[in-house]
Amino acid sequence: MRLLLLCHAFNSLSQRVHAELRAAGHEVSVELDISDEVTVEAVALFKPDAVVAPFLKRKIPEAVFAAVPCLIVHPGPPGDRGPAALDWAVLEGEAEWGVSIIQATAELDGGPVLASRLFSMRQTRKSSLYRLEVTEAAVAALFKALEIIQRGESGDPPPPGRWRDPVPSQARRIDWASDDTATVLNKIRSADGFPGVLDDIGGREVRLFNAWAEPELKGDAGTLLARCHGALCRATVDGAVWIGHLKEMGERPFKRRATAVLGEAVSSLPELELDTDPETGRGPIRYREVGLVGILDFDFYNGAMSTEDCRALLAAYQQATQRPTRVIVLAGGSDFWSNGMDLNAIEAADSPPDESWDNIRAIDEIAEAVIRTTSHLTVSAIGGNAAAGGVFLALAADEVWARAGVVLNPHYKNMGNLYGSEYWTYLLPRRVGEDGIEAVMGHRLPMLVAEAESLKLIDRVGPGNRADFDQFVQTEAQSLAGADFEARLKTKAERRAQDESERPLHAYRDAELERMRMNFYGFDPSYHVARFRLVRRSPHAWTPLYLARHRARVGGK
Ligand code: COA
Repeated sequence: MRLLLLCHAFNSLSQRVHAELRAAGHEVSVELDISDEVTVEAVALFKPDAVVAPFLKRKIPEAVFAAVPCLIVHPGPPGDRGPAALDWAVLEGEAEWGVSIIQATAELDGGPVLASRLFSMRQTRKSSLYRLEVTEAAVAALFKALEIIQRGESGDPPPPGRWRDPVPSQARRIDWASDDTATVLNKIRSADGFPGVLDDIGGREVRLFNAWAEPELKGDAGTLLARCHGALCRATVDGAVWIGHLKEMGERPFKRRATAVLGEAVSSLPELELDTDPETGRGPIRYREVGLVGILDFDFYNGAMSTEDCRALLAAYQQATQRPTRVIVLAGGSDFWSNGMDLNAIEAADSPPDESWDNIRAIDEIAEAVIRTTSHLTVSAIGGNAAAGGVFLALAADEVWARAGVVLNPHYKNMGNLYGSEYWTYLLPRRVGEDGIEAVMGHRLPMLVAEAESLKLIDRVGPGNRADFDQFVQTEAQSLAGADFEARLKTKAERRAQDESERPLHAYRDAELERMRMNFYGFDPSYHVARFRLVRRSPHAWTPLYLARHRARVGGK
């Protein structure tokens, strides 16, 4: 089919849908929802068989839905209507939720339901549900809905349901004097990643993100108790919560570490050590062992790895290499494996070029430590999406396994054509060959893991369900630690020595960093402009031509 994706932004769900539809052989083009006129024009140019709207914030114009079937992905079960479906579901503690594919009509979310899928809710933030459960359900339901459209059939009338407006900010306002930990977490998670719960800390109005429960500390409800790796601990009536990130309107209206936003006001709080114990640990890094396998989880918010994050991860990795294990699994985080440098921290720095420089070198240190490991076999287990430097960091391991359903953006092009580092000039050719480099780096489109596997960018694809994938990783890592371990380790060490004698690792890094220096400090401001726009979530003024194929054909904008 010829399918036009109409989206508010080309977000993770839109990327996944785009990649899946293309992989299924459909002809796909994208138009970002900029104005009704632009949408009407896009339909006239592309002449789609159907419009698919994976992530839309406005109504589709009547001229469009009257002329061509328009399939809206709604993150709620049949009958549910309104723009904040998932927010309400988290806030009200629904045990089961769903995704419906609704055919657009004049009534917002009120058209026939073409297909739907239900899922069990997890106690986590809204954005995590969106990136895992909602995305999986949406893709399955969308393919079902397209079959119905292809057969020329129509959907079922929606069951009786209800319209719900956006969540009023009062409904999520935390009452520190009476809300218990579960209530506080629930409120914050229902608004994470957008818009965040509005709160007052020390007289400053901030939005809260990235919260988790503190296992031990207690204090007078509402008081700040401690800091740890940029997060703040605040007492509730029955315990305490950690708040990792805050957003404050003003000069830097984007998410940053809580302590960076509040600065001096919280500098006298006791600083707790970052502890990687899975039971008592407080930060984003956790280390555990299963038999001869050490598993390093690093759940950095939004997959963004700041200079401090990288240093902490390097220390945890180095400790893991001292353990009497055989295999180290780099497991990343729940939603993202890694998205590379922390662009928000860079944007907020006094000197973004200097902070970029520090951040890229700190990531390189991790990549180098993994590449140089000859005591263990290493595996990158990519259970969540990865982009830019995050993808290339994963390639530093001996084996790269990914969950079916993960979307990779293995290129730096969308970040102002950064050259990139993380030893990609060493790691990529030895995986995909010189000929494969262009297939990976030469475009801006998201890639499914099946394609990444066929390009030999990654080694294996594991189950799509997150829990099944984690089990797959454990089992397969155990077998890597088994019979052939010594022989594999020996081969690996020999190859490393051979590679080093042909061209030392530092030569790759020096050459990459020379180019990065130009990106950070040179004349061309593309990287700084792209970063400014990304961290501020600036709306698009037009659809880039690599997405809007219909416009590229006619010479477009
Ligand atoms: N640093 C800081 N924040 C990042 C980030 C990074 N490297 N990568 C993603 N994010 C944030 C986004 O700003 C967004 O923030 P929000 O929670 O305030 O909305 C959030 O992560 C999710 O991103 P979004 O774009 O909505 O998710 P997505 O799944 O649709 O797309 C990416 C993900 C990774 C493709 C896209 O965000 C991206 O291109 N990131 C930049 C990657 C990069 O260039 N890294 C630096 C070079 S090493």
